[in-house]
Amino acid sequence: MCFTFAKESQRVKLSALPYIREVSLKRAEVENPEEFPFSIPAVRELHSLEFSSNVTFLVGENGSGKSTLLEAIAIASGFNAEGGSRNFNFHTRISHSVLHRYLCITKSHKRPRDGFFLRAESFYNAATYIDDLGVSGYGETSLHEQSHGESFLSLFLNRFGGKSLFILDEPEAALSPNRLLSFLRRMHDLSMEESQFIIATHSPILLAYPGATIYELSEDGYESVTYQETSHFQLTKSFLNDPDRFLAKLFGDQIF
Ligand SMILES: Nc1ncnc2c1ncn2[C@@H]1O[C@H](COP(=O)(O)OP(=O)(O)OP(=O)(O)O)[C@@H](O)[C@H]1O
Ligand SMILES: [Mg+2]
Repeated sequence: MCFTFAKESQRVKLSALPYIREVSLKRAEVENPEEFPFSIPAVRELHSLEFSSNVTFLVGENGSGKSTLLEAIAIASGFNAEGGSRNFNFHTRISHSVLHRYLCITKSHKRPRDGFFLRAESFYNAATYIDDLGVSGYGETSLHEQSHGESFLSLFLNRFGGKSLFILDEPEAALSPNRLLSFLRRMHDLSMEESQFIIATHSPILLAYPGATIYELSEDGYESVTYQETSHFQLTKSFLNDPDRFLAKLFGDQIF
């Protein structure tokens, strides 16, 4: 793991800049590039990824490696591997890769006041940890006594604040389209309050956030794209434009 700080020439309007400016791979230290995690597209194609907006999205096919990269960025930034805020320290099953040791993270001169790493698969464990701690600031009802979407939104509304770093893996998983709009609205407020978001997502609604940087990951590497250029937008749009045509193609003669 290595940390550097943004050069003086890059320190323009620092209050508006995110905490993590760039992530790169210490390629020279990788001994077995054919092995996981170095073999997956997200790492194999990682040279230098710039975070120039307060909101950055990673999109790409299932299995391209978004979660693996996000998790390594989170660990390298001081978060618990299984999710939570930086002072969380619970472990149920060690499953994270060694990638965090091979990342070089360039930071701005500012430190986030707070933050949260939402790991898609272990929100349940983070909720248990929060309940066990008995800490305030997470809403009045136990996260386990709320639905998946309710508990996540409760966390987002009660726990997330300004000047913070949020690394979120598929936050849309819990949310209805309606609640996703509430999430977007809140994310906007927090980003105006100098919070930085790095998010892996498959949601065409979330990706619509204006001004976000979107990196689309494929076998060929990372590409910075506009919202309309993402395959998620294009596929969803053509599906919704004409669902019958899509279904006819999918089911052929078996259409009912
Ligand atoms: N511990 C592991 N050992 C070997 N391969 C692994 C391990 N963990 C994950 N993988 C593989 O790494 C690849 C990337 O997984 P990852 O979960 O990062 O993808 P993803 O882009 O987040 O996918 P999704 O969109 O489905 O969430 C997958 O092919 C997965 O099978
Ligand atoms: Mg994933």
